[in-house]
Amino acid sequence: PDAPRRSRPATVTVTGAAGQIGYATVFRAAAGDLLGPDTPIRLHLLELPQARRAAEGTALELQDGAFPLLEGVEVFDDADAAFDGSSVGLLIGARPRSQGMERADLLQANAGIFSVQGRAVNRGAAEDFRAVVVGNPANTNAYIAASHAPDVPRERFTALTRLDHHRAVAQLAEATGARVAEIRGVAIWGNHSASQYPDLTHATVAGRPALEVLAERGLGLDWVDGTFIPRVAGRGAEIIDVRGGSSVASAAHAALSHVRDWVLGTPADTWTSMAVPSDGSYGVPEGLVSSFPVVCRDGRAGIVPDLALDEFSRTRLERSVRELEEEREAVQRLGLLGPRR
Ligand code: NAD
Ligand code: LMR
Repeated sequence: PDAPRRSRPATVTVTGAAGQIGYATVFRAAAGDLLGPDTPIRLHLLELPQARRAAEGTALELQDGAFPLLEGVEVFDDADAAFDGSSVGLLIGARPRSQGMERADLLQANAGIFSVQGRAVNRGAAEDFRAVVVGNPANTNAYIAASHAPDVPRERFTALTRLDHHRAVAQLAEATGARVAEIRGVAIWGNHSASQYPDLTHATVAGRPALEVLAERGLGLDWVDGTFIPRVAGRGAEIIDVRGGSSVASAAHAALSHVRDWVLGTPADTWTSMAVPSDGSYGVPEGLVSSFPVVCRDGRAGIVPDLALDEFSRTRLERSVRELEEEREAVQRLGLLGPRR
C-alpha cells in the first residue's frame, strides 16, 4: 500500500529507431527522460525492412539496460502495427541532409514517409496520441502527417525547433557571460531552417533585458543581426561541416525535452519554442506548422499571446512563413497531402 502509484504504461513509437538520433533517444526515453519518472513505457521501434535487424539489436540492448520503467520493446517494419495504440510518436526516421544539401532537397526524398505514417496514426493510435516530427523538413512533414490524420486533432502534430531554442539560449549565455539557467524568454519563430527567426527582443538575462546586457558588452543590434541570428540559424550546417554528419545527441536531447515539457508542463516563469499548427496568431496562416513561443499546461501547448513584434521581427517571421507556404505548395503539387487541408 505504501508503494508509489504508477500510471499505466504509455506506448511510444519511435521511427528511424536504428538511426543515429533514434539510438541516442530510446535509452534516455527508457530511463524516464521522455515522460518523467512515474510513467512506464512500451517502446515500438519502427524501421525500414533493411534496418529491422539493427533495430532488433537495439531492442536487445534496451533489455540489457534493465530499465525499471521499460515494460516492453517491439520492433516493426509496418507503420500500421507500430502506431497501433500509440500515445507518443517520435517521428525521426528520414534521410538526413548531407554536405551542400538544402532542406528543399529533402522534401521530395522524405515527404512520402509522413503520409503513410499519418494514415497509420489515424487508423490506430490512442486517443491521447501526440507526435513530434524530427525528420526534415520537419515542419512540413508534420503538416503532411496531420493532413492524413483527419480524425486526430491537428494540434497533436508538432515539429522540433527545441534544438534551435537551445542553440539560441546557449549562444546568448556565452555572449553575456551568464549561466544558461539565467536566460528566459528566448523564442524561435517560423521554420526549422536557415530562414528561422531566433528572437531576443523578449529575452532576459538574470532578470534584465538581454538586449540591454548585450549592449553593455558592446554587442548591439548589428551583432544580433549579423552574428547571433546567422549562428543559430546556420548551426545545423555548421555541425554537418565540423562533425561530418548532422547533429545527433543534441537533437535527441531536444526531442525528449519537447515531449516532456508538452506532457508535464513548461516551467512557471518562462516559455519554450515548439513548431505547432498555427491558430492564426501573429499573422501566420492557420494550419501551417510554424515555430512559436509556447507555454504547456495540462498536456496542451498554447502559443504565447500578445507579444509585441517590432518591424524587424515581423519581417523576419514573414520571410520564414513564406518559405513554409512554398513548402506546402510544393508538397501539394507532388500530391502528398491527405484529406485534411
Ligand atoms: P539516420 O540516417 O542515422 O537515421 C534515419 C533512420 O530512419 C534510418 O535508420 C532509416 O532506416 C530510418 N527510416 C527511413 N525511412 C523510414 C521509414 N519510412 N520508417 C521508419 N524508419 C525509416 O539519420 P539521423 O541522423 O537519425 O536523422 C534523422 C532525421 O532527423 C533527418 O531527417 C535529420 O535531418 C533530422 N534532424 C532534425 C533535427 C531537428 O532539429 N528538427 C535535428 C537533427 C536531425
Ligand atoms: C539540425 O538543425 O542540426 C538538423 O536539422 C540537421 C540539418 O540538416 O540542419
